[in-house]
Amino acid sequence: MIWVPIDQKRDIPFIRQVYTQIRTRILQGNLLAGERLPSTRQLANELDVSRNVVLEAYEQLIAEGYIEARHGSGTFVAEGAYLEQLHHTKSDPFFERDELSDEKDLIDFRSGLPDLQFFPRKTWAKLSYDVCMNSSHTVLSYGYPEGRPELRQALARYLVKSRGVQCQPHQLVITSGATQALTLVAKLLLKKGDQILMEDPVTRDIQTIFSTPGSILHPIPVDENGMRTELITPDFNPKCIFVTPSHQYPLGSTLPIQRRIQLIQYARATGCYIVEDDYDSEFRYEGAPISSLQGLDTDHVIYIGSFSKILSPALRLGYLILPPRLIKECRKLKWFTDLHTPSLEQITLGRFMEEGYLERHIHNMKKIYKKRRDHLVEVIEKRFSHQVKILGHSTGLHLVAEYQHTVFTEDFVKKMRDNGIRVYPVEDHAIEKGKHQNQMILGYGHLCEEEIEEGIRRLAECLG
Ligand SMILES: Cc1ncc(COP(=O)(O)O)c(C=O)c1O
Repeated sequence: MIWVPIDQKRDIPFIRQVYTQIRTRILQGNLLAGERLPSTRQLANELDVSRNVVLEAYEQLIAEGYIEARHGSGTFVAEGAYLEQLHHTKSDPFFERDELSDEKDLIDFRSGLPDLQFFPRKTWAKLSYDVCMNSSHTVLSYGYPEGRPELRQALARYLVKSRGVQCQPHQLVITSGATQALTLVAKLLLKKGDQILMEDPVTRDIQTIFSTPGSILHPIPVDENGMRTELITPDFNPKCIFVTPSHQYPLGSTLPIQRRIQLIQYARATGCYIVEDDYDSEFRYEGAPISSLQGLDTDHVIYIGSFSKILSPALRLGYLILPPRLIKECRKLKWFTDLHTPSLEQITLGRFMEEGYLERHIHNMKKIYKKRRDHLVEVIEKRFSHQVKILGHSTGLHLVAEYQHTVFTEDFVKKMRDNGIRVYPVEDHAIEKGKHQNQMILGYGHLCEEEIEEGIRRLAECLG
């Protein structure tokens, strides 16, 4: 009998699983030409699936020439279906990343996820229907790389009013999320050997995006006031500086005006750009809203925003505000990347904003997230009292818990996972290793109060 493990929990049809596994074994020479396969009935019994599953998988393999049925004597591996493997593809951690786990009892403190049960489905569906049915047929044609004018106008108005940016609609390019905006900026500004100054820690994805052109990342440490701008000396010669000034990711600090001015003066003196990633600052729970860095200097700051946290990451909608001299080149790059972001979604979002739904949604979600944030802070303080310091809790959908005497190693994270809780060490996002081992990111936006409470109870149990 051959071993064909079926994973009942995976979202892949059984027929596909059986087909793929047998095909792979034949191609890799684990099943040899002439070898007899079990009968469909035997294999179905063994795998505890219906016989039709195996029959269909076999039929597909026969149709593609991997196996052959010999009348009266069974099914056999065909000649010539083995392909020598030139190299073994090493597993790449990028593809091993987990989706938000659907393990039943797991409490996942992943950061940056909104509570998607509150996505305004009815309004979105109503507007999408209207856009689809009643827009001119020209919107179904090829669009422009910078995106739909309706959305850019609505967005420019919203950003000037709520984020203190200075922006005309022609400076905006609509992108597939902030991730694409960051990728376009990296391509636009950097080539092999160029330097970039980066907050440290910063997400691993952003490190990858900015190092992909072959550029050199210089980490600039972060303290409770964000990037330590006093460490940026004239010896550097960067093409750009990456910052999350409204809510440093992951440590959560806000860059004060003195440091903002220092950055801008540096950019003006050296001719480099500042890349401002403003990914979640709409959810600010205390203190006055902080105006963007871009509002201080429109020639040196590239501003990036996203609808992933305020609406849903599945929309894949984000944007860039560009200094005038980068607009043309950026539109060209966007065009050669994917022509443009899908038009109907852009128009729907433009309507969603113009008709006041976005502001209402943010207002409602802020109340929900604030309650969850307050609850998380309260239970952490109750459970751990003096052993823990909470960082970066005034904004966003996550905070950081810093412990006095704990090192969050891989083994520790695994132990937590076995205990039904998933947490994310800050150290994983550090460029310079060793300084953040006692800090842990706790995303709470998508967790209800009971889950937060239970999660922290399990955490306390693991910490002993
Ligand atoms: C700091 C930061 N910037 C950008 C992004 C990317 O967001 P998007 O979903 O818009 O691509 C993320 C995602 O979590 C993030 O944490």
